[in-house]
Amino acid sequence: MVGKIIVVTGSTGNQGRAVITVLLKRGVYRIRGLTRNVESPVAKELASQGVEMVSGHLLDKDSLIKSFAGAYASSLPSATELSNGKYTTHVRFDEKTEIDKYMKAIDQPGVVVHTGAFAENVLNFDYLKRDIVNPDQWHISIPITRPHSLWPLTYVGADLGPAVVSIIDKWDDPVIKSELSEKPLVLVVGTIDGVQMAETVKRVSGKQCDFVTIPKEMTPDSFILPYKFADDGFYAKLAERANPPILDKLGIKLHGFEDYVKDKIVTFMSK
Ligand SMILES: NC(=O)c1ccc[n+]([C@@H]2O[C@H](COP(=O)([O-])OP(=O)(O)OC[C@H]3O[C@@H](n4cnc5c(N)ncnc54)[C@H](OP(=O)(O)O)[C@@H]3O)[C@@H](O)[C@H]2O)c1
Repeated sequence: MVGKIIVVTGSTGNQGRAVITVLLKRGVYRIRGLTRNVESPVAKELASQGVEMVSGHLLDKDSLIKSFAGAYASSLPSATELSNGKYTTHVRFDEKTEIDKYMKAIDQPGVVVHTGAFAENVLNFDYLKRDIVNPDQWHISIPITRPHSLWPLTYVGADLGPAVVSIIDKWDDPVIKSELSEKPLVLVVGTIDGVQMAETVKRVSGKQCDFVTIPKEMTPDSFILPYKFADDGFYAKLAERANPPILDKLGIKLHGFEDYVKDKIVTFMSK
C-alpha cells in the first residue's frame, strides 16, 4: 500500500479512534495503531478495518522506536501555568506539558493539540443517570464542580479526527506549518457549565434533567484534583486561547454540546 504512514497512539481509546475513523475515510494514508494489547477486541476490530496494529508501551522506548515513522501528539495545557502556580502537582496536565517542552527542545516538528473536557465524558464517565425513584427524571451528576463552574468543551468524536487529518493533509502549507508549530491548536468550541448541560439534554430530549454535584466525600481521591482544578475556573481559561482563524484555514467548524446530545445522548436515553 502507498501513502504516508500515520502512527496513532491511544488508538483504541476515544481520541485515537476519533482520528482513525477519519483517516480511514480519507483513504490515502497507511494507519498504524499503537496498543499494549493487539489481541483486545477493539484492536482486532481496528485490524479488520485495515489498521496495522502494533504492540507498544509509552514507557518502553524500544517499542516506540519500532512503531514510529512520524507522530502527532495530543496534549493538555500546563495546570501550573493556567492556575498561576496554585496547582503544581496536577500530573495529568503537567506531565504532558513536559512532553511538549521536550519536543520543542529537540526540534521535533509537530503540532500540539489541546482539547477541552470531552463531551463524551457525559456517557463515558456516567455523568448522566436516570433517577432511581422517578424513571422520568434524569440527572447530570459531576463530582465536586458547582452548578455554574465552567468547562472548556470538545466533542472529540466529531472534531478531533477532521482537525488532525486536515493538519496532516495541509502540512506542506508553510503558513499552516509555521503557525501550528509555534503554539498549540486549541480545539475548544467554548465553555459550558453543568446546568447548561442539563438544560440542553432536557430541551433536545424532551425529558426532565437537572444538574447535581457529587460531593467530595463521595469522590475517589484520584479524581479530586482535576475536578477542583476545573471548579476553580482554571480549566475554562483554555477556551480563551481558542483560535478560530486557524480552524478556518484548516476548514474545521467545531461542533457543540447540543450536537453530542442529538448524536449520542438521545439514543442512550431512549434505551
Ligand atoms: N476526558 C477528558 O475530558 C479529557 C480531556 C482532555 C484530555 N484528555 C486526555 O486524552 C487522552 C486520551 O483520552 P481518551 O479518552 O482517548 O483515553 P481512553 O479512551 O481511556 O484510551 C486510552 C488509550 O491510551 C492507550 N494507553 C494507555 N496507557 C498506555 C501505555 N502505557 N502505553 C501505550 N498506550 C497506552 C490505550 O491503549 P491500550 O489499552 O489498547 O494499550 C488506549 O488506546 C488521555 O491522556 C486523557 O488524559 C481527556
